[in-house]
Amino acid sequence: MSPPDTPAPSMAGWLDGRVALVTGAGGGIGAAVARRLAAAGASVGVVDRDATTAESTVRAITAAGGQALAVVADIARPSERNRLVEEVTDGLGGVDILVNNAADHGSRHGFLDVTEEEWERIVATNLTATAFLSQAVAPAMTARGRGVVINLAAIQAMLPVATYVSYVATKGGIVSLTRALAVELSPHGIRVNAVAPGAIASGSTANALAASGDPTGSAPTLLGRMGTVEEVADVCVFLASDAASFVTGAVLVVDGGRSLSRAPDPFATFGVLARPDAPASGSPPPGAGRQTGSTGAHVDGSS
Ligand SMILES: NC(=O)c1ccc[n+]([C@@H]2O[C@H](COP(=O)([O-])OP(=O)(O)OC[C@H]3O[C@@H](n4cnc5c(N)ncnc54)[C@H](O)[C@@H]3O)[C@@H](O)[C@H]2O)c1
Repeated sequence: MSPPDTPAPSMAGWLDGRVALVTGAGGGIGAAVARRLAAAGASVGVVDRDATTAESTVRAITAAGGQALAVVADIARPSERNRLVEEVTDGLGGVDILVNNAADHGSRHGFLDVTEEEWERIVATNLTATAFLSQAVAPAMTARGRGVVINLAAIQAMLPVATYVSYVATKGGIVSLTRALAVELSPHGIRVNAVAPGAIASGSTANALAASGDPTGSAPTLLGRMGTVEEVADVCVFLASDAASFVTGAVLVVDGGRSLSRAPDPFATFGVLARPDAPASGSPPPGAGRQTGSTGAHVDGSS
C-alpha cells in the first residue's frame, strides 16, 4: 500500500499564532515535524546541535512562507537547555508546543558491552533532556494555562529488540515520563503525549529508497511498507492542535501495524552475549536490520 500522495493534510491554520520548539529538527523526523508545524501556522524554534542542518530546516520553512529560528545547542548539556528555551522565547515568543524529538541511538551491540559512559550519554540526550526541557517550558505554560508537550518514544519501548538496551530503556522511560507529566501538568492546562514510531524511512534509508523510485520500500508492517517522516510529523501536528484537546497521557503508536504484524525480529537471537570477536553464527540474517546512517533505524521496525 502506497503512502498518501498528497503533500500535507489540510491542517493549515490549526496552529496560527503558536510558538513551537522542536529538538533534533535538523534532520529526519524532527525536520519534518518542524516543517509541518510551520505549515500549520506555528513559528518554530529549530533546535539541533548541527548548525548546518538546523539552518537548512529554517530555510525550507521560510521558503514555504513560514517563520522559524535556528538554535544550535547540545540538549545533553544541562547549561544549554535553559539557554535554548530563552533564545526561542526571545526570538519567537513563549513556547506553546515543545516537541522532544532529538535522540542518541548509540551503536547496536550486546548488553554485556554496554559501557556506563555510553549509557549516561544516551540517557542524557533521550530521557534527561526530555524531562528538563519540559521543566524549562512548564512555568510559562502554566502561567498561560495552556501548553503541549510531545515526546518521541518508539515502539521498542513496548517491544524491545536485542542489542539496543540503552536506547530501549530510555524510550520506556519516556513513556513513563510522559504519563507522569500528564498526571502532574494536565491540571494546569498542559497536555503531555508521546508518539511511538516504528519502521520509519528517515536519513540515508529514505534517500536510498527515494533514489530507487520506491520511497517507502517493503517492511514487515501490516501496511507492507515503511512509514514516511511526514506521517509521523502529521500525528505531532494533530497532537499539538486543539483537535487533540481531550488527549493527554496518550502514547500514539505510528508504525503501520508493525507491533501487530507478528513478523519475527531478525535480532531476536543476536547479541545478548555477542562481542566483536564472536563467531559469525550469532550474526543477524543477511539484509536484516538495514542501518539508516546516524539514525540506526531498521526495516524490521526497530530504530
Ligand atoms: N526513524 C525511525 O524509524 C524511528 C523509530 C522510532 C522512534 N524514532 C524516534 O524519532 C526521533 C527522531 O528519529 P530520527 O530517525 O529522525 O533521528 P535522526 O538521527 O535522523 O535525527 C536526530 C536529530 O537529532 C539531532 N541530535 C541528536 N542528538 C542531539 C543533541 N544532543 N542535541 C541536539 N540535537 C541532537 C541530530 O543532529 C539529528 O538532526 C527519535 O527520538 C527516535 O528515537 C525514530
